[in-house]
Amino acid sequence: MAIWIPDLKGRRGPKYLQIVDAMAEDIASGHLLPNAKLLPHREMAYQLGISANTTSRAYAEATRRALLRGEVGRGTFVRAPGAILENGEQGSLLRQENGPIDLSRNLPLPGFSEPHIRRILKKIAADARLPTLLDYQTDNDLAHHNEAARIWLSNCGIDAATDQIVMTMGGQHGLLCSLMSVLNAGDLLLTEALTYTPVRAIAERQGLNTAVVEMDECGIIPEAFEELCKRAKPKAFYLTPTLQAPTTLTLSAQRRMALAALAQQYNVVLIEDDVFGPLKIDRPPPVATFAPDHTIYVTSLSKSVAPGLRVGFLYAPSRLVPALRHAINLSVWMTPPMTLEIATRVINDGTAFKLAKQQRDAAAHRQTLARTVLKNVDYTSDPNGLHMWIRLPADWRADSFRAQCAKHGVLVTEGRSFAAPSETAPEAVRICLSHEVSELRLTKGLQVLASLHHQAPSTSVMEI
Ligand SMILES: Cc1ncc(COP(=O)(O)O)c(C=O)c1O
Repeated sequence: MAIWIPDLKGRRGPKYLQIVDAMAEDIASGHLLPNAKLLPHREMAYQLGISANTTSRAYAEATRRALLRGEVGRGTFVRAPGAILENGEQGSLLRQENGPIDLSRNLPLPGFSEPHIRRILKKIAADARLPTLLDYQTDNDLAHHNEAARIWLSNCGIDAATDQIVMTMGGQHGLLCSLMSVLNAGDLLLTEALTYTPVRAIAERQGLNTAVVEMDECGIIPEAFEELCKRAKPKAFYLTPTLQAPTTLTLSAQRRMALAALAQQYNVVLIEDDVFGPLKIDRPPPVATFAPDHTIYVTSLSKSVAPGLRVGFLYAPSRLVPALRHAINLSVWMTPPMTLEIATRVINDGTAFKLAKQQRDAAAHRQTLARTVLKNVDYTSDPNGLHMWIRLPADWRADSFRAQCAKHGVLVTEGRSFAAPSETAPEAVRICLSHEVSELRLTKGLQVLASLHHQAPSTSVMEI
């Protein structure tokens, strides 16, 4: 393949960023292919007539943005767009105004919480309790944080006693601590057939065995769960009953009750991930309300208030709380009192719930926009969901669809990413509607996707 030299004609701004922008565009257009080897930075500098410092800086920035990867002793290579690396390292989550249109990240729309957090930070700065917030604490030390967690949980439909609440650094941390507390190496963890990928990665790291519970068009099939309980004796079942990632399904109250009854009967701990729950106003009660002695309920402020706060709460049977608190100790010593203080104030003055509503309304608006663009496209979605699950026509394979989207500057996630390696993956892709801040870019991305969906795999699509 020809050696890649960026075309910097007509570009403005710092030279190193010009190189990175040219690279991002060429990757998005397919001109620069995944795994292509780049010239060493000194040679590139020579070719461009600039200093080696500038090309080093460009390569470093491109690596930070997950456009490149370096291999010791072998050189620098182009990374597959949107790839999560084998070692778990992720590409940049920063929202870009240029480059590929990113529909692969399931993040809430930013910006709503900023003025409220600024206001609260000023109040905390003037608060006489600040030194306490800067000191070591345990969950039990600051009763007003516990009380705010109780209010948040009550808004999720959970009536929690203080000794059933554990503070975490977000939902992901809650999941990690739950898995650490309930399962030992060699134990069996069940997940939904399509699931939130990091849980599978943690399970693998902990030496857990995993198996999947089949789903139909309404979500988890309780009979499939029962069959596994009888045959394989699982210790825990990780599930996302509301706005499921990636299928967007919300499990009915009936199925929730059936799963809860089975968990009790077969003594399985349900790890109920409800981080999307606050976005769906009319959801059935959490599974935890039907099986409180067998469920760890995981919630966080990430999807409705601000992911950067890193605040979440667990509601668990009292018998599991000491192990969960120990897992908090081992992983982060304590959940930061400073961020808990911010969370407490947004919850106590009602802002958190207003922000959740704003996020729901924004999601609803974007879902309407997407429905208008994706006419005759086969998908499932929820009016308040941040994502959509797009099923592909028979002649498309999800990997080539994803690659074609990337070639036309649009990043999506293929169904394989959510399936266990040993299972067949559906020919489908997940798209997320709120990582892109600009509605114009979102619309363009959706138009490319719709255009590809309507064509045979080999035909070209509209330019964006
Ligand atoms: C299904 C699911 N669970 C948990 C998380 C992690 O949430 P948090 O940001 O609160 O750690 C995410 C984040 O995207 C998610 O999609």
